[in-house]
This record gives sequence, structure tokens and C-alpha cells, in this order.
Amino acid sequence: MAAIRNVVILTGAGVSAESGVATFRGPGGLWEGQRVEDVCTPQALARDPALVHRFYDERRAKLASVAPNPAHLALARLDAEWPGELLLVTQNVDDLHERGGSMRLIHMHGELKSALCAGCGHREAWEESLPPGCECTVCGAPLLRPDIVFFGEMPYRMEAIERALAEADLFVSIGTSGAVYPAAGFVQTARYHGADTLEMNLDPSQGSGWFAESRLGPAGVLVPEWVEEMLA
Ligand code: APR
Repeated sequence: MAAIRNVVILTGAGVSAESGVATFRGPGGLWEGQRVEDVCTPQALARDPALVHRFYDERRAKLASVAPNPAHLALARLDAEWPGELLLVTQNVDDLHERGGSMRLIHMHGELKSALCAGCGHREAWEESLPPGCECTVCGAPLLRPDIVFFGEMPYRMEAIERALAEADLFVSIGTSGAVYPAAGFVQTARYHGADTLEMNLDPSQGSGWFAESRLGPAGVLVPEWVEEMLA
């Protein structure tokens, strides 16, 4: 492998699966009999705010009963010990990467433990349930909503992510089906800029063909092995 200095890592629901957090498109990808995609939309929020808020309240409450798995811990070790640039971009809204110790981290689809004011854009840490109508502590409007990027909304920090992909020597995708853009296109951007590419996933993803190397298996096994290789 050519000299690697700048690393960009993308994670999806598969990295949290072994912690007991359900993935979206695998078995159990339904919620109250609905496709998740039908719940995480601005239209659903406008049509039935109580249902959408309840969906995220249940997922936020579940965080207390799950813990980082060896994949999260290995990624945090790499973050701490890697001498070059490193950015972990996660599609996940759980807090397992933080709790595992990752620091250089971007949540491109938002976070369960954050509330966003649909009025003024202020966001604040939120641990409890968030019913519709909670007032923003900055502008006072009763417009706090889950700080989650819904389908059709722009993911967060895309400029920083694109910059990191342009500078990457290695792009690694872990535990994502490659079904949702723009994350699914990151491998193409990285390749365009000359990065080496590696995928680790339980099953071949929709983007497997774009990766120079694809390792199949559970993240809890593959990621610690890969981090050992990187730090050797
Ligand atoms: N180890 C590694 N990979 C796993 C594991 C595991 N233990 N278990 C499942 N996987 C893989 C599956 O094979 C699948 O390819 O993780 C992937 C999970 O895919 P999805 O459920 O589609 O989740 P994700 O790719 O993160 O979804 C992307 O879609 O619903 C939206 O915004 C939501 O961020 C989410 C986005």
C-alpha cells in the first residue's frame, strides 16, 4: 500500500449492529410496521409530529442500554494513535463512537442526543424525550425537533467531508449498505482524488465494486484486525 497519511473512514449502521442497535435495511429494519424511510421525512414530521418524535424518543432512550463494541473501540484507538490526518464520518445517529473514545468525528445525519430549533437553527444537547412543541432556549419558539437529517434534507458538514475526501490517501467504508447518497458516493470521490479504498461489511454492499479491496465479516472482528495492521 502506498504511503498513507490522510485517512477518511465512513461508518453506517453495521458498525453498531453488534452493540444491539438495529440496522435499517436488515431484518428488524421496520418500526411499528413502517419502513424507516417513511418515518424520517419532513412530510412525516409535518403530518404526524407525535409519531416522528416518538420514534426518536424510543431510539434515544435505547442508547442507555447499548455500549460500544470492539469496532468502536478500535476506531477510537486509531484516532488516538494515528500520526497523520484522520476523519471519521458516521451516518449513525447513536453516540457509540463518542462513547468508544473517537474524537475526530462528524455525524453527517445528525444525532439522537441533540435537539434542533426549526425556527432559528440553534441546536442543544438533549438526553430525555422530546415531545412536539418544546421551546427553543434561544428564540423561545416551540419548534424544537430531533436533530436528525431527514430524507431530502442536506447532510451536515458536507464541505468539511468533501475537503477530507479530496486529501485522503485511504478511504475506508464500514458497515453501510451503500444505499443512501451522498455517503454512498464518497468512495467515488476518494478514488477520483487517487485514494486507496477498502470496504468492511457483513455482506457485499451496493458499492462494493468501487472498492479496491472488500473484506466480508462482522465489524467487531474485521475492524480491530485492520487497526492492528494500520498501527503495525
Ligand atoms: N458488521 C459489519 N457490517 C454489518 C453488520 C456487522 N455486524 N451487520 C450488518 N452489517 C451491514 C449490512 O450488511 C448492511 O450492508 O451493515 C449495513 C447496514 O446497512 P443499512 O441498514 O442500510 O444502514 P446504513 O447503510 O447505515 O443506512 C444509511 O440510511 O436510513 C438511512 O439515514 C439512515 O444513516 C442511514 C442511511
